[in-house]
Amino acid sequence: MHLSEQNSYTIQNIDPIQLVEQYGSPLYVYDGGTIRRKTQELQNAFSGINMKIKFACKSNTNLAILRLMREIGVELDVVSTGELEMGKLAGYDTGQITFTPSGVPFHEVKTAVEAGAIVNVDSIPLLEWFGQTYGNTKPCLIRLKPNVAAGGNIKIMTAHADSKFGISVLLLDQILTVVKKYDIKVIGLHQHTGSDIKDAEPFLQVADIVFEAALQFPDLEIIDLGGGFKVSYKPNDPITDMQLLGNKISERFKNFCEKYGRELQLWFEPGKFLVSECGYLLVNTTVVKEDPARTFVHIDSGLNHLIRPMMYGSYHHILNISNPAGEKKDYTIVGYICETDTFATDRPLPEVRQGDVLAFLNAGAYGFTMSSNYNARFRPAEVLIDNGVAKLVRRRETLEDLLLTQVGFTE
Ligand code: LLP
Repeated sequence: MHLSEQNSYTIQNIDPIQLVEQYGSPLYVYDGGTIRRKTQELQNAFSGINMKIKFACKSNTNLAILRLMREIGVELDVVSTGELEMGKLAGYDTGQITFTPSGVPFHEVKTAVEAGAIVNVDSIPLLEWFGQTYGNTKPCLIRLKPNVAAGGNIKIMTAHADSKFGISVLLLDQILTVVKKYDIKVIGLHQHTGSDIKDAEPFLQVADIVFEAALQFPDLEIIDLGGGFKVSYKPNDPITDMQLLGNKISERFKNFCEKYGRELQLWFEPGKFLVSECGYLLVNTTVVKEDPARTFVHIDSGLNHLIRPMMYGSYHHILNISNPAGEKKDYTIVGYICETDTFATDRPLPEVRQGDVLAFLNAGAYGFTMSSNYNARFRPAEVLIDNGVAKLVRRRETLEDLLLTQVGFTE
């Protein structure tokens, strides 16, 4: 979102306030140009090696976003058969889809494998089942847990020793025994460290652990290092230096390939890096309440639409796009949900008046996908702006949508 010389905000020259007038509030808006730019940035950082991007679509499953990803050569990482179906609907060939489940029923794995997706096997029992079911007829990757603690906060760390994800690298012998027993065709090793990882160091640390383990598997084609790159949440926020990380990882990867004796593919599965910054949640100010303790700004949205602040204490930058030149004051921004539902405490913002439109930044990843109907509220509409054109890509929900799955209420 850019502030023009006329002191108004635009996204690709489109006035976001007009979008709210047209499609209603609250409204999710995505800037396709940002997705294209971030994808290019990642590709440039790894231009010296055979690197593939698999978008972790749990962060945003709008079909228009998935279709855009496909058009720009980004493949897909899914965690459920629902996401797999969405990938297919967006035009993906199932061969471009990786299924990275976490302790799911084996029939889901079966569905994914038989649809043509490749699975990241995340437990010894699943590996046993995979061997019994497919022998050496279907390829798979194995998800390792490298026992490295990194990430923005404990709730989004996935590779530390106590984490539920993957098979501990300490169990490598057991993995190899099962692989040998069924002659399982392991074509890749996978790991995902966590989310919001700023420094190159943890990425290098886990890469070394995976490269070391990889030497035990003779038929590998892929090393998948997951996602987790830290994005910018505030102006001047330190983020993962992608060029630096790209250079360092590429160098180590080349050395590893030389040692391994073959050129492999390196995969990444970013969610936030590709879509966090492209998204805005636009909301309306319903009430400005001057309280002796603080000034509350109530909005027509809540943790039902953007749960990250309440769930992880995440910071989302907020702009008053209706009054950019207003005098700055401290406001506590709260949602309309009937429980504590705070987006920001004592946040300096240009004067907020009833009816002003506020924009929450970094709403493109884990915003809509983590939304709910709590308090019987409808989920917002979504708009994608791409090549200068704004398009409605999801309509706002209605009461009928909420009632669609309830049965027997007329009896
Ligand atoms: N690969 C795997 C196996 C994952 O579990 C995840 C995220 C990713 C890739 C993508 O991570 P990213 O690049 O987006 O950091 N809801 C939380 C984030 C949870 C991430 C879960 N796994 C949040 O809003 O901060």
